[in-house]
Amino acid sequence: MGGITVPGRPFDPRLLLNNAVSNVICVLVFGNRFEYSDHDFQCLLKNINEALYLEGSIWAQLYNMLPWLMRRLPGTHHKIFVLLNKVIDFVKEKVNAHRADYDPSNPRDYIDCFLAEMEKLKDDTAAGFDVENLCICTLDLFVAGTETTSTTLYWGLLYMINYPEIQAKVQEEIDRVVGGSRQPSLSDKDNMPYTNAVIHEIQRIGNIVPLNVVRITVEDTQIGKYSIPKGTPVIGHLTSVLFDESEWETPHSFNPGHFLDAEGNFRRRDAFLPFSLGKRVCLGEQLARMELFLFFSSLLQRFTFSSPVGVEPNLDFKLGGTHCPQPYELCAVTR
Ligand code: HEM
Repeated sequence: MGGITVPGRPFDPRLLLNNAVSNVICVLVFGNRFEYSDHDFQCLLKNINEALYLEGSIWAQLYNMLPWLMRRLPGTHHKIFVLLNKVIDFVKEKVNAHRADYDPSNPRDYIDCFLAEMEKLKDDTAAGFDVENLCICTLDLFVAGTETTSTTLYWGLLYMINYPEIQAKVQEEIDRVVGGSRQPSLSDKDNMPYTNAVIHEIQRIGNIVPLNVVRITVEDTQIGKYSIPKGTPVIGHLTSVLFDESEWETPHSFNPGHFLDAEGNFRRRDAFLPFSLGKRVCLGEQLARMELFLFFSSLLQRFTFSSPVGVEPNLDFKLGGTHCPQPYELCAVTR
């Protein structure tokens, strides 16, 4: 493939990835996407970013342990509420606009479908279909659907600039299976075991939700020799599975071979659980898997990514609500 040979200027891809990924969930939930030049939307994404980052701070942890005390003390935990309230206001505005021009015969998106359910169940106050719940569910989908997948892609590009030989092998597979005249589609995935393995390995090593989501037991439970009383917060430690030394050949190295057999076919692994498992498994798993494949393969089809000249990629993480790379810059050169 021909292309521009002068490397592009270094830039941090974080917000662009965020915007692109967020647009997918925005279309499903709000019925519209946002331009990359939309300043208000960029600010909103930055607010979500910052709130999630602060959620991992010591202040937020102290607040979770001692809310009655921390409510009265100064600290960055107060900022989380300020930032999230801005996001909630944005969601409320969207919900109100939907209610204003709601047409039951033409549901446009998740909000309209929820409004239809509210209408159907208006006499059943216990059903939970009310405006407050609509706002919170919409917020949940919007935040969970934006941050996770884009953080995974942010790790992905970082690993590609750190391992250019792996990037080149992915591109070779994309060129062979998809070519350059059309975009990759989901039907290509089964014919692209190497790319698929690389994406799985990015998710494993990126480990973006290391402590999972905290849950509470709804009844007295016995696990092996441990009795867990009803009402106990439980943390399903995903790091322990994704880096289990008895499951992975080289748990602490980036190794797409974890997901390939001797013939180079894709192989599933039981310990691959970045979305958790069980009844409360990630609700967006299928969507996220589709997005990861389509975004990752489309980006590598069109660009070669590299670290700015003289800069060593930094694979360290930044501690926050998600396990996220330190901010970094890369160069993207069209292929
Ligand atoms: C790479 C991307 C993603 C990862 C690694 C991820 C991971 C997770 C994890 C670990 C949980 C907690 C599961 C548990 O408690 O056992 C979760 C829950 C959830 N995720 Fe995701 N997620 C991703 C993408 C998405 C997307 C795109 C959406 C939006 C549609 C989404 C929506 C949710 C929701 C709503 C929950 C809560 C489910 C419930 O409480 O029943 N996630 N996710």
